[in-house]
This record gives sequence, C-alpha cells and structure tokens, in this order.
Amino acid sequence: MRHSSNIQKNQKPLLRVMRGEKLWPPPIWLMRQAGRFLPEFRAIREKADFLTRCTTPELVTELTLQPIKRFKMDGAILFSDILILPWSLGQDLQFIPGKGPQLNPCRHESDLSLLNSDKQEKIFNPIEKGIKEISNLLRDSSTSFLGFAGSPFTVACYMIEGGSSKDFAHVKEAAYKNPQFLEKLIQLLTNQTISWLSRQIEAGVEGVMLFDSWASLLSPSLFRKYVVEPTKQISSAIKQKYPHINVIGFPRLCGTLLKIYGEEAGVDVVSCDTTVDLNVAGKLLPSHLAIQGNLDPFAVVYGGEIMEEETVHICQKLRSRPHIFNLGHGVLPQTPVENVGRLIEIIRKL
Ligand code: CP3
Repeated sequence: MRHSSNIQKNQKPLLRVMRGEKLWPPPIWLMRQAGRFLPEFRAIREKADFLTRCTTPELVTELTLQPIKRFKMDGAILFSDILILPWSLGQDLQFIPGKGPQLNPCRHESDLSLLNSDKQEKIFNPIEKGIKEISNLLRDSSTSFLGFAGSPFTVACYMIEGGSSKDFAHVKEAAYKNPQFLEKLIQLLTNQTISWLSRQIEAGVEGVMLFDSWASLLSPSLFRKYVVEPTKQISSAIKQKYPHINVIGFPRLCGTLLKIYGEEAGVDVVSCDTTVDLNVAGKLLPSHLAIQGNLDPFAVVYGGEIMEEETVHICQKLRSRPHIFNLGHGVLPQTPVENVGRLIEIIRKL
C-alpha cells in the first residue's frame, strides 16, 4: 500500500488533524467502512462467520484494508467489534444474521463473578497478529491506522440487555435501582478497555476511537458519571502511557451534553452525529479540539447533488478548525459503492 511513498509517520494527514492541525481539504474516512456495502466484503462473509472473521489474522488484515485499496481513505479502522471485549471476558456472544448480537445478559453483581480472562489471550493474540501485519503494510502510506473500543457505557448496555434494544430498560433499571452493580461493571470495563487499547497500540495502531453509540440514554448527572468519567480515565491512562497517541470520542446523540464531554472527557477529537449543528458544536467544544463528522449516512445512499451540497457545507463550516471528514454514524449496507467514490472525490477536489 504505497499511494504516497515514504510518507513520514507523523506527517500522515489524519494524525496531524488528530493532533490539532488544520488541513484543507480535510482527511476522510468513514465509520463502518470495513463492511457490508462492499461486494468484496460480502464475498468473504459467505466463507466465514463474523467472530471467525474478527479472529483470523489474514481476514482481519484483508477486511481492514479493503476500503483502503478501493478508495485510498486517510484512515483505516481495524476490522473488529466493540463486543469482542465482553466476549474475551467469557460472556457468550453470537451474531445472528438479521438479529444482530446476542449475549447472555449480565444483570446482577453475581453475574460479574462469572467474567474472567481465561479466553482472552486466545481471542486477542490473533487480532494483535493482524494489527502488526496491517501496521507493516500501512507504514509507508499516507493512511493512518485506527484501533478502537466501545465506551464502557455502550458496551455495558449490550452486556446488560443481552443485545440491541429500543429503550435499554434493563440498563435504566440498573442505573436507578442497582447502582453498585453498574458502577462495578463500568469500572471493570474501564480497566479492561485501557488494557485492550494499550495492546492495540503496542501492536501498531496509530490512534484510537471510543464508540459511545448509546451515550444519549442518560440524564446529565448520570452522563457525567457513566460516560464522561470513564472516558476521562481511559483517555488519561492512554495519554500517560503513550503521549503520541490521540483519542477520538463519539458520544452519539448526546445533544447539549457535548459541552461537558468536550471539556472534561479528555479526548482530542469529538465525533459528531448527524443531528449536531456544527455552528453550535463550534461554540460548545473547546477550540483546540478537532471535530469529526457529520454527513448523514443516507446522503451517501442517495448521492447526487444533495450529497455534494451537504458535504461542501460541512467542510466549509469547519474550515476554521481541525476537521476530519466522516459520517454522523456508520456507512449503511445499501450504500452504492460509486457514491462513496464520488464523496472522496468531492472532498479531495475542494
Ligand atoms: O468501522 C469499521 O468498519 C470497523 C469495524 C466495526 C464493526 N463494528 C464491524 C461490524 C466497528 C468500529 C464496529 C463498532 C460497533 N459494533 C458499534 C459502534 C458503532 C455503531 O454502529 O453504533 C456497535 C454498537 C457495535 C455492535 C454491533 N456489531 C451491532 C449492533 C451489530 C449488528 C448490526 C450491524 O450494525 O451490523 C454488529 C455487527 C457488525 N459489526 C458487523 C460488522 C461488519 C456486521 C456483521 C456481519 O457482517 O456479519
């Protein structure tokens, strides 16, 4: 992978913006880019189930690099999942086509004693092998390599509920009726996330992202306790151990709580969902932080002039601060491949 030969590691555009530099045009990558909208991804999906794909080094490498080969994105995100962590702690996990993830629910303090790291090496070692291989392949390219984890709160949502949910009622129940349990679970996940991200960094990722897809569920005081505090612990532990590593946080749909998140969570980049008015975000977020986002994934499904208008609009609004172009949530499976190609072209020709 040598689309820009011998680029110095610290000169990669995405890493520069993560550190707080302004670049025009902005670097671009897409959340969930290693995924189902690509025919070459679907071809591999026929051959191996999801967890096998996540734990076979050659497949991790191939699936991570597929979108880079096709589009030369500025960022490659590790092909993996936020639920690999609870799985590595012994929680049963299955991905059932059409139904999403299914876990055996963890709802009481007694369930916590069932979690252990017996299987962790067996799961993490092949992923680390894939990371090393990808890191070697991307060394001389302009593409930066991102690792990731779910935020402790979002991972806890799936662990408690046992899968996806409309309202995560069991999580609410834990927050209001069994806070000792939720506090313990969040602390355990915070420590585990620090250690899993550290391992990804040691193996070769150049930056990390924390996905907080369900940050919208909580009141301001509980948001501070279960989202901001753990994120701050993770960001500061990572920065203390690896001062050159920058952190992207994605507190999806958190509304005006973006201000506390930006000021206190310790991340370098805030990824904004589609509903965020970038003029308002510009005022809520401290000016040294980079902003990532926030095109509606449906704009890329439909493409055409409206996609172009919205894309140019986002870039212009964020021209005066460090900006990484991305979507407001993951790229959708029904997205036409040529629309993603066109999107990259629009950005690069700005
Ligand atoms: O971004 C990438 O391309 C890298 C890989 C990645 C996956 N999941 C692969 C995946 C990343 C960064 C994730 C994050 C993730 N996983 C989140 C946070 C982002 C978000 O979308 O809100 C969440 C909540 C999950 C949990 C999860 N994994 C769900 C709910 C599902 C089923 C529904 C869905 O979106 O597909 C998954 C499965 C999953 N994770 C697939 C992929 C490629 C599809 C499984 C398959 O191909 O068989």
